[in-house]
This record gives sequence, C-alpha cells and structure tokens, in this order.
Amino acid sequence: MKWYRPSKPGYDDSGHTVERQQQTEGIESHDREVSAALAESFRQGWADTGRKLPPLPGAAYAAKRRAALSERFPGERIVVPSGGLKTRSNDFDYTFRPHSAFVHLTAEQGTQAVPDSVLVFEPTGTGHSVVLFTRQRSPRGGPNGAELYSDRHHGEFWVGRRRTLSETSDALGIEAAPRENLERALGADVPTRVVRGEDTLVDALVPAARPAEAEAELLTWLSESRLVKDEWEIEQMRAAVDYTVAGFHDVVGELRHATTLARGERWVEGTFNRRARLEGYGLGFETIAAAGAHACVLHWMHNDGPVRDGELLLLDAGIEADSFYTGDVTRTLPVNGRFSDAQRRVYDLVFAAQSAGIAALRPGAPFGDFHDAAMRVVAEGLDDWGLLPGGAEAALAPGSGLYRRFTICGSGHMLGLDCHDCAAARRQHYPGGTLEAGHVLTVEPGLYFQPDDLTVPEELRGIGVRIEDDFLITADGALCLSAGLPRGADEVEAWMASLR
Ligand code: GLY
Ligand code: MN
Repeated sequence: MKWYRPSKPGYDDSGHTVERQQQTEGIESHDREVSAALAESFRQGWADTGRKLPPLPGAAYAAKRRAALSERFPGERIVVPSGGLKTRSNDFDYTFRPHSAFVHLTAEQGTQAVPDSVLVFEPTGTGHSVVLFTRQRSPRGGPNGAELYSDRHHGEFWVGRRRTLSETSDALGIEAAPRENLERALGADVPTRVVRGEDTLVDALVPAARPAEAEAELLTWLSESRLVKDEWEIEQMRAAVDYTVAGFHDVVGELRHATTLARGERWVEGTFNRRARLEGYGLGFETIAAAGAHACVLHWMHNDGPVRDGELLLLDAGIEADSFYTGDVTRTLPVNGRFSDAQRRVYDLVFAAQSAGIAALRPGAPFGDFHDAAMRVVAEGLDDWGLLPGGAEAALAPGSGLYRRFTICGSGHMLGLDCHDCAAARRQHYPGGTLEAGHVLTVEPGLYFQPDDLTVPEELRGIGVRIEDDFLITADGALCLSAGLPRGADEVEAWMASLR
C-alpha cells in the first residue's frame, strides 16, 4: 500500500504521528499495490458533483457564540480543534465525535463533521477573522491524489464524501481553508490560547509558552458559555430526549424476550442502541443496562448478565441527536411488570426524593437545592427504616453524610453537548451558582443496597433504584423534557402492561 509522504517531520499533514502511519504501513496488508496505470486512471473521468449547500440550521446561533468569544479575548489568537480519529484497534477507528467546544462554535452536524478540523480566531483591528482549517473533499489528482483510494481513514472511497471547502463555507457560514495551510496560519507570533490535547499538530505548532492558567481560562469560558441554552439548543435537547424516550418504549416491548437470553442485558442495550443510531448520531454515553444487583453499580456498562423475572432492570441511557446534544434518562423497571413489596418500598422512596428535588427547581434557586431536598427525603426514609443509627439529622450534617453509603453519588448535573455538561465551569458558577432560565439539567436520585451489605435487611440487599429525568429551567419554574415516560410505580406498571 502506498502512502503519501508526511509534510512535516514527526507528523503527517493530518496531525497523526508518523509512528502511527509507519505502524499501519508495516502491517501485512490485505490491500493490493496500486499500479501507475491504475493511479492515472483514478485521476480522471469523474463528473463534477459540487453542490450549493444551504446554511445548517444552527449556523446563525453558532455565529453569535463566536462573536461572544471574540469579544471576550480581544487581540489574542484562539484555536479550537475538533479533535481527530481515535484508534480502536490496528487500522480501525472509533466513530468520530468532535470536541463539544468545537461543536458549540460551529453547529457542525453528525456525519458531516470532519476529523482534524481547527477553528482559528485571528485578531484583527476590530475583532477577529475566523477561519476553519479542515480536510476538504479527497482531490482527484494532484500531490494528494492517492488519498481518494488508498487512505482508509480519510479517503473518499473508504469513508465517504466530505464537503468541498466552498460547501463547508456555505453550510457553516465560516471561511474554510485547507488544513495544509494551518502551519502557516499559526506561524506569526501572536498571543495564542489553544484547546490542548485534541490535535497533535496544533499542540506542536503552538508551544505552551503562556501561563497554563491562560488556557485553563479559555476552557472555563467555553464551558460556562454553554450553561444557558439558546432556543435552537433547546429544540435539540427536546429532540434528543424525545428519541431517548422512544428508546425506553422499545426496551419495555423487548423485556419479555430479554428474559429468555443468557445475556439479556445485551439485548436491552442493543434495543436501545438501535433507536439511537436510527434517530440520532448515536449514544451520549455507553448504555447502562443493569439487571438485579448490577443496578448497585452506578455505571454498569458490561451489560453481560441475564434479565430475570422478579428482578428490577435499571436502564440509564441517552440518545445523542445529529447536532450532538444528548438526553440522559433512567428508569428502574420490574422485569415481570409488577414491583415486589420490597422493590416498591425502595422505588417509592426514590420517587418521593426525586419529586422533592423537582419541586425545588426554579430560576434563582441555588443549584444545590434540588439535591439537598432529595437527600433530606432519602435520609428521613432511611431513618424510618432504621438504617441510620444516629438519625437523619446527624447523617445530613456537614461532616457526616452517612446516608451516602446508600446513595454514593450526586443527584443531578447539567446536560447538553456533554452528558455531564459544562464540567470546566468555575465552581462558583456551577455547581456553586444559581439556576437560570435556559439551564438544562438532570434530577436523578438513587438508592443502592449492595448485595453484601450486612447493615441492611436481607430483602433489600441487591436492590438498586434510580429515577432520572431531564429538565429545562423556564422563566418561572421547570419543564420536564422526559415527561413522555411514566415515573410513579403505578404508572410504570400500567405502562409495562400496555407494552408487553
Ligand atoms: N447517565 C450517567 C450519568 O449521569 O452519570
Ligand atoms: Mn445522569
């Protein structure tokens, strides 16, 4: 197999290290050599398939976000890469998923997203000019002509047609330039902040000469600018959650069949994931399909166990729309359609905790209020069951938190392009700040009684329950985006009876 030569020692022009390229080259390939005659043939005889593309639906909103970034960092160059392909094994890559900051600033969509793209804000007298350095459509001929048929990571005959540069400009409303020009563009000595760790070429071209805090400050700004969702983002969140709700309906319809399989959890996972690929780009995170005591493992993603009649199934899953916004919903379902007494007792307590959390959602409320409200209900319930030796108040007191033996983690987070969105925000803003209209977050308390916990009655051991819904904070309260799914125990049983 022939490979085009690297344009820069240490890196090929995609930013992949040459080591990776050589590694691929060294493998005894099942591909055939391309003769000079065949290479010549590949250069010609193709129709002009150039298109005039309309702007992407989110492009105008992304333009406003770029203007805000420009205003925040006057006189500085800002570099935001999309990130590249990540190797799964040998010469196969994972499905590409661009960096969330890049998506936020471009409104790039699904399969159109191009690995190794780099958004550069170049300071001008009055603000910034913005250029997207990206891989264009595989050329037919020229020095890079072999990419078309011999580059299994980027060649059009291997991975599909990318947009041309002018198509990219039309779709995103951003000037587009070939990635080959990136080195020249980053050459001039201008104060520069980079989102690091996403593009090896960018990291090599822009040494981290500035104090590290300067780049941390950029990440923080990018994260905080995603806290309040605009109307287009809210539309995307609604779509992502609607797809997610549909995936849960699919799973309930397949539960009976799942009980007949040795690895029924995988059937549940596959059923949900099929909906994710059908409706969206894919999953916002790996599906958690946890039956029986697996529900006591917060992120049970092995999903290799059976789904048994008489047990609960905890399904925590989210579909990522083509816009890359994701839902994140959990339901805990009695596999045979009816909660046992012990299961219902736990379920009802988690339900009451979640209801208290939901009631605390409103603009102006401290972010932590919903968690505190939910945890008070949990602690009082556990105390009633005799599981908190020192009582609820002592367990809730700062410096104790003993009830957390059974809750383990927090009970909600911001949601958006990332499942755990806005994670680089300053703590005084999130989680330390207050809720605002346009925030989207989850409320997801849970109770987990480990199967080997000798401090709880035997009938509770191995029961794990989490209930999670997604909320949009509005001008005067909160709207449940996942209201299409039943939540209370009776409603869940009725829903399951209707679908089984
Ligand atoms: N849905 C997984 C989580 O929120 O951690
Ligand atoms: Mn969650």
